[in-house]
Amino acid sequence: MNILLFGPPGAGKGTQSAFLVERHGMKHISTGDLFRVAIKNNTPLGQEAKNYMDKGKLVPDSVTINMVAEVLQSLKGASFVLDGFPRNVAQGEALEALLDRVNLNLDKAIFIEVPINELTERLSGRRVCRNCGAVYHIATKPLKNGKNCDSCGGTDIYQRDDDKPESIVTRLNVYADFTKPLKEYYRKKNKLVEVDGREDVEKVFSRLERSLES
Ligand code: AP5
Repeated sequence: MNILLFGPPGAGKGTQSAFLVERHGMKHISTGDLFRVAIKNNTPLGQEAKNYMDKGKLVPDSVTINMVAEVLQSLKGASFVLDGFPRNVAQGEALEALLDRVNLNLDKAIFIEVPINELTERLSGRRVCRNCGAVYHIATKPLKNGKNCDSCGGTDIYQRDDDKPESIVTRLNVYADFTKPLKEYYRKKNKLVEVDGREDVEKVFSRLERSLES
């Protein structure tokens, strides 16, 4: 099954994608992660993306769509979960064309809904392992021993630049203006599935699994 997860920043798309990868072996395609790797490696793509990401703005469509096109071409039949793409209706239309080109289909577009006040708390408390990308939260998912990553033992646990207050406000506005309209887009295509993203991560994953079966 090929799906995409969309929703506001901090809804839990990355967290739930990790569960899907573990349970179903799906290929995780996160445009945010791809940009962060490019920034870490200081590539031209990373340098361009950083200017937008740090401010909480969208990276231009042409750059993002070309990057996703390359990944889709390399899938070789593996099922996928798209996380953070598409981010606006133009990207949704581009995705359809890209999938046609490689003879793939999107089965469901899963929208994870979380109220705004909870999102701000999730984003400002998020911490990430620089070595393996594991995601934590200072209150709801702290490091087990307080300093090493539970997954890889890494010690460099950092806060994303775009999880600072000014960027969070911009990201929430960008979401409302550009990403939320994708709900209507996928509803019209009969692909929209809505999942309540409140409550703990395991409960949300059970809901997600049920929505995949239905
Ligand atoms: P991206 O990395 O995709 O950021 P995002 O969409 O803002 O989503 P997040 O990663 O912030 O949140 P998430 O929903 O994955 O939540 P998570 O699981 O981590 O994009 C970053 C930037 O890259 C964009 O702003 C843009 O500049 C650029 N970009 C990316 N894609 C683009 C595109 N297609 N076009 C143009 N530009 C693009 O969880 C968040 C926190 O909450 C964690 O601490 C977690 O532990 C906690 N948490 C998760 N679930 C729960 C739960 N159920 N209960 C309590 N806490 C929870």
